[in-house]
Amino acid sequence: MRPFFAALLALLVSAGASGAIRTGRPPVAPVLTAPEAHDAHSFARPEIARVTHVALDLDADFEAHRMAGTATLDIQAARGAGEIVLDSAGLDIEAVTDARRRPLRWTMGQGDAVHGRPLSVAIGAARRIVIRYRSAPDAAALQWLTPEQTVGRRHPYLLSQGEAILNRSWIPTQDSPGIRQTWEARISVPAPLTAVMSGERLSPRGEPAGRGRRAFRFRMTHPVASYLIAIAVGDIAFRPLGPRTGVWTEPAMLDAVAAELRDTEAMVAAAERLYGRYRWGRYDMIVLPPSFPYGGMENPTLTFLTPTVIAGDRSLVSVIAHELSHSWSGNLVTNAVWSDSWLNEGFTTYAENRVMELVYGRHRASQEAALSWDDMQAAMRQLGATSPATALHHDLDDPDGTVSGIIYDKGAIFLRTIEQIVGRPRWDAYLRSYFARHAFEPMTSAGFLADLRAHLIRGDRALEARLQLDRWVYQPGVPDNAARPDPAAFAEVDAAVRAFDAGGPAAQLPFARWNWAERVRFLKAIAHRQSEARLAEMDRAFGLSQSGNAEVLFAWLRLALANRYAPAVPTAERFLASMGRMRFVAPIFETLAAQGDWGRPIAERLYARTRPGYHSVTRERVDRLLRAH
Ligand code: BES
Ligand code: ZN
Repeated sequence: MRPFFAALLALLVSAGASGAIRTGRPPVAPVLTAPEAHDAHSFARPEIARVTHVALDLDADFEAHRMAGTATLDIQAARGAGEIVLDSAGLDIEAVTDARRRPLRWTMGQGDAVHGRPLSVAIGAARRIVIRYRSAPDAAALQWLTPEQTVGRRHPYLLSQGEAILNRSWIPTQDSPGIRQTWEARISVPAPLTAVMSGERLSPRGEPAGRGRRAFRFRMTHPVASYLIAIAVGDIAFRPLGPRTGVWTEPAMLDAVAAELRDTEAMVAAAERLYGRYRWGRYDMIVLPPSFPYGGMENPTLTFLTPTVIAGDRSLVSVIAHELSHSWSGNLVTNAVWSDSWLNEGFTTYAENRVMELVYGRHRASQEAALSWDDMQAAMRQLGATSPATALHHDLDDPDGTVSGIIYDKGAIFLRTIEQIVGRPRWDAYLRSYFARHAFEPMTSAGFLADLRAHLIRGDRALEARLQLDRWVYQPGVPDNAARPDPAAFAEVDAAVRAFDAGGPAAQLPFARWNWAERVRFLKAIAHRQSEARLAEMDRAFGLSQSGNAEVLFAWLRLALANRYAPAVPTAERFLASMGRMRFVAPIFETLAAQGDWGRPIAERLYARTRPGYHSVTRERVDRLLRAH
């Protein structure tokens, strides 16, 4: 037998019948070997050799904008495996050795701008390797903020965003969601700053580390996908919210943030009632500086949040319900490949709404679900309902380019459809058992459908026919059995939309007493073409330009700019300069760029000013869309 196949066979055999590889350490999570679990966005070849544990010892260098130090990797390899292949992007590798400091041969292979380059290390008999390296100053996962980009304006700040494939720019490991690794880290930072990571904190106050520095230690003893390793460093403080919940943010924001997030403990309790024990110990959050590119990111034990969720009235806390729900869908059961990211995001959008219903009641949840339905329909219109990109499972050139109306909203509506057909009690019991059966394992679309057939459908042919599972997952468009939103959710708003579209005056509408969802529904549902006079009337009557709610302001700006309403431009400029959340920033630039000679120069002028403040993922997205227009 050729050595490659002998090695492969040995690894698969050692994986045993259950698929779990066992060593002296905690059990190693299986890697899936089915063809649909092959990750096109990683250079790793886990069937030959795979990383099981990462130990980081890094200095955060705020002058050079680099993380510098060592990554020590524990490796599980098939007998005769000559090398391990890691992911890397822009890393400056100084040396690779075995555990006894004997140098190992390594090579950097060919790659591309999206995926970085494969780092192959000749491991011989070594099962632990030490990589001494530095990240590049423009590492895609990391954003090094100046003091002026923080609320306090006195200290610099560092934040990371790993999902989908950015962590390879600061951690040399196998950066594939199907390969789970335990990890530990020691991070040294300038003394006045505090480091937090997405794991257990082992040195809450930090330890002196010489030269005016302090070191913080962390560990994650559950195997996780590499995209879930995250770090933030800054002048931050902590406030407990409940026995196992709390929040970090800059000291000046702590009171407002703690008030906004006060329902978090109740959300954890609600999620546990639905989906079983919370398995990660603490559920803390950090509200980051405004350049954080996402609404939230489900880093285990420490959700990362945009400050745009701090609306002052707890109206936007569904983002917390969402990130918390990823503690089951995503962090416990993880999409093995990014073309199945609906398994993370669709399940989570569904679970988010169930948590919202338990904590805030049916009406609020049904309104948010109705907005999600609208977002799915908008995505269908934008992509075309026969486009392959409207299937839940679809291939992507760049895993960071997913369309949320499909993987989030169509994904959630698929699960709501199953719920409606089989009934809540039976569906809830199934979902709870699914998370328990596959905890700490990767999952594919095919794996989920097989599990559903084995544990829910169990050969019931009539039920199988009603569900249309394969249509939902593999075909474009919206199957005809889709669970519709509650028509009563926005009954009053929809009546107001009709009155307004018929020419009725804005001042007569009860906009002021509507919640954010009702306001957004109204702004999206009225006729897309509006005259300058009508827009001015709305702005005056509803105070739209002054809205402190980011979702309402966003909906207003899209409507106003799509109608070339010049008085909205200064508001857009203020909004775009105030935060870097991609879901707001990119569509506003896109709306402007679509307005030809009127909007294009405005987009360019604003972007020249705001681009330097954005995280790399927001910059990449806007760069690309402005090039395309
Ligand atoms: N995991 C996502 C963020 C993400 C997705 C990062 C894909 C990179 C690639 C996170 O859970 C998320 O969905 N955030 C949303 C908020 C949510 C309430 C819809 C966001 O950022 O808007
Ligand atoms: Zn999510």
